[in-house]
Amino acid sequence: MKVSGTAYRTIWPLPSGAVRVIDQSRLPFEFVTLDLMGLEDAAHAIRSMVVRGAPLIGATAAYGLALALRADASDERIAEAARMLRATRPTAVNLAWALERVRQVIAPRPVSERARAAFVEAGRICEEDVAQCRAIGAHGAKIIGELAGKVRRRVNVLTHCNAGWLACVDWGTALAPVYAAHDAGIEVHVWVDETRPRNQGASLTAFELGAHGVPHTVIVDNLGGHLMQHGEVDLAIVGSDRTTAAGDVCNKVGTYLKALAAHDNGVPFYAALPVSTIDWSLEDGRAIEIEARDAEEVTHLTGRTGSGAIERVRVVPEGSAALNLAFDVTPGRLVTGLITERGVCAASRPGLLQLYPERAA
Ligand code: MRU
Repeated sequence: MKVSGTAYRTIWPLPSGAVRVIDQSRLPFEFVTLDLMGLEDAAHAIRSMVVRGAPLIGATAAYGLALALRADASDERIAEAARMLRATRPTAVNLAWALERVRQVIAPRPVSERARAAFVEAGRICEEDVAQCRAIGAHGAKIIGELAGKVRRRVNVLTHCNAGWLACVDWGTALAPVYAAHDAGIEVHVWVDETRPRNQGASLTAFELGAHGVPHTVIVDNLGGHLMQHGEVDLAIVGSDRTTAAGDVCNKVGTYLKALAAHDNGVPFYAALPVSTIDWSLEDGRAIEIEARDAEEVTHLTGRTGSGAIERVRVVPEGSAALNLAFDVTPGRLVTGLITERGVCAASRPGLLQLYPERAA
C-alpha cells in the first residue's frame, strides 16, 4: 500500500542481511522504519508491538528465525530461537505456524544451507500472505458490493482494532475488502473503533484508511452498539488472531461485544482471515491462551501534545488495579461468515471443511 505516494510493505529483507520493518509504535505521528539485525531485535519488535497483527507477527517470527541462524544454524540454535520467538506473544497462531513451517523446511538441510533456506521460506510466507490477503479482499468486496446494491447509498462498515495492511504484509484481512470495494468505485465508509487500550484503530486503522483515501470516522469503542441500533452499520468486518476448527474467532478484546450487538441488531458480522490463522488443533475458542499485557497500557495513554511532543499520560488514579487481557473469543454462532482466501464460509467445522476439504482427515 502507498504512504505519501510510495509503495510499502510492512516487512522486507535488505541486501545486507538485515530485515526492515515499519515501526508501528511511532504511528500515526511518525512514519519510520527499523532494521532488525538479529534474533533479539525480532523478538523485541514482536513483544513491544513495533510489529503486530497476526500475519505480520508470523512473518516477523519467520525472519527472526532466519536472522538467528546466520551465525549458528545447529539444531540446538533452531530450537532455542524458536522457543524465544514463540514466547513473545501467545495468542496469534500465525507465530507458531510460521516458525513450524520454516523449521520443517530447514531441518533436513545441511547446517551450512539452513540460514539461506530460512530467509527464502520467510520470503515465501510473505508472498503468500500478500496473495491471500488480496484474495480475501476480492471475496469480501463482493459482499460489500451486494450490500451497496441493496442499500443504494454508501455502505457503512464497522471494524475493530487494526486488521489492515499494517497487520499483514500488505492489503490486510478485514480492511482488504474495504480497499478492494473502494478501488472498484463502491462508496464505502468505515466506522473505526478506537480500540483501547493501545488504540490500534485510532492510530493505525485511521492512518491506513486516510492514506488510501477511504472515508472513515473514529468512534469510541462503546458507540458501535448505538450505531447498529440506529441502522448506521451495514456490516462489521474484523480480523482474527486465531480461529478454531469449529469457527470460534479470537480477536482483539472487545470484538465479542461488537458481535453480540451485531447479532441483536441483525447486522452481518464477518471475520476475515488467511488459512495461517486457523488452528486446526482446537475446537473450543475458550481454550485459546489469552495474552495478558502490562497494566500500564490501561492506566496510561500516549499522544501528541499541542507543542508536538509525544507524551505518555496517566488516566487512572495511582493505586487502582488494572487488568489488560488483549483478546477475546467470539463463538462461531455469532459470526455470519469467515472471509478467507478461498472464499466465504460458515463459521463452523462443516463450513471450514467445505473450503479446506483436505483437512477432513
Ligand atoms: O494486539 P494486536 O495489535 O497484534 O492485535 C491485532 C488484532 O487483533 C487483529 O485484529 C488481528 O491480529 C488480525 S490482523 C489481520
